[in-house]
Amino acid sequence: MSVAAVVPAAGSGTRLGAGAPKAFVPLAGVPIVVRAVDGLLRSGAVDEVVVAVPEALLEHARELLGGRPVAVLAGGAERTATVRRALDLLRRPHDVAQRQGGPSGDGPPDIVLVHDAARPLTPPALIAAVVAAVRAGNPAVVPALPLADTVKRVAGSTVESTVDRSALRAVQTPQGFALDLLRAAYAASGVDAIATDDAGLVERMGEKVVTIPGDPLAFKVTTPWDLRIAELLLEGS
Ligand code: C5P
Repeated sequence: MSVAAVVPAAGSGTRLGAGAPKAFVPLAGVPIVVRAVDGLLRSGAVDEVVVAVPEALLEHARELLGGRPVAVLAGGAERTATVRRALDLLRRPHDVAQRQGGPSGDGPPDIVLVHDAARPLTPPALIAAVVAAVRAGNPAVVPALPLADTVKRVAGSTVESTVDRSALRAVQTPQGFALDLLRAAYAASGVDAIATDDAGLVERMGEKVVTIPGDPLAFKVTTPWDLRIAELLLEGS
C-alpha cells in the first residue's frame, strides 16, 4: 500500500506576525515547511509528498524542497480548499499528475496523510504510528492528547458552563486516511465547506474516526510564543 502525504502550507501566518507566510518562517535557520516535509520523509512511512503553498511562493518552495520526492502546488483561500486541491492532484491519472509536477508513483496512493506544515517538530515515530494504525484497518486515524486546562463555554466574557474535559481531546496532525474515504468526504462536502481538520469531514459522513496517542512535540506553531518554544526545543536537542 503506497502512502502519500499532503502538506497544507498555504496559510498567511497572520497570528505569527513574522512578515512572511508561516510555513516559510525560518526555525533555527530551516523554514518550517522544510522541517515538516523532512519529518514525513524521515519516518520511512511516506512514499511521496504534495505540498500546497501560496501561489506567489511556488517557485521559491520548489527550490527549498528540491531533491526530495515532493510535488508543489498552489493552495486555496482556506485550509479545506488547499487540501481539496492537493487531493485532486493525487487523484489524477499517473501521466497527468506527472506532467504537472505531481507524484510519480503508479496511480493514486492507497493511504493519505494530511499534515500541517505548521507542526515542524512532529516526531517521525508519530507519523509512522498513524500510518501503521491505518494499515491495521482503521480508515481514519487522528493523534489526540487529553486537555490539561479546565474548559469553559463562554458568551462574550461571561462563563455559561464548565465542560467535562475527560471526554475531550486536542487533535493534531498527521491525520491518516484510506484515500478513497477522504476523497469521498471531500466530495460529499460542498466546495465551500470549511473544517478545521480533515477528520471533521469524515465525521460529517457518519464514518468512524479513531484516535491514537498524540505527542506534545507535534504542537502547531501559531504565535511568536510557539516559535520561541520550538527554537528552545531545538537548542536543547
Ligand atoms: O491557520 P492554521 O495554523 O490553522 O493552519 C494550519 C495549516 O493549514 C498551516 O500549515 C497552514 O499553512 C495551512 N493552510 C493552508 N491554506 C490556507 C490556510 C491554512 O494550507 N488557506
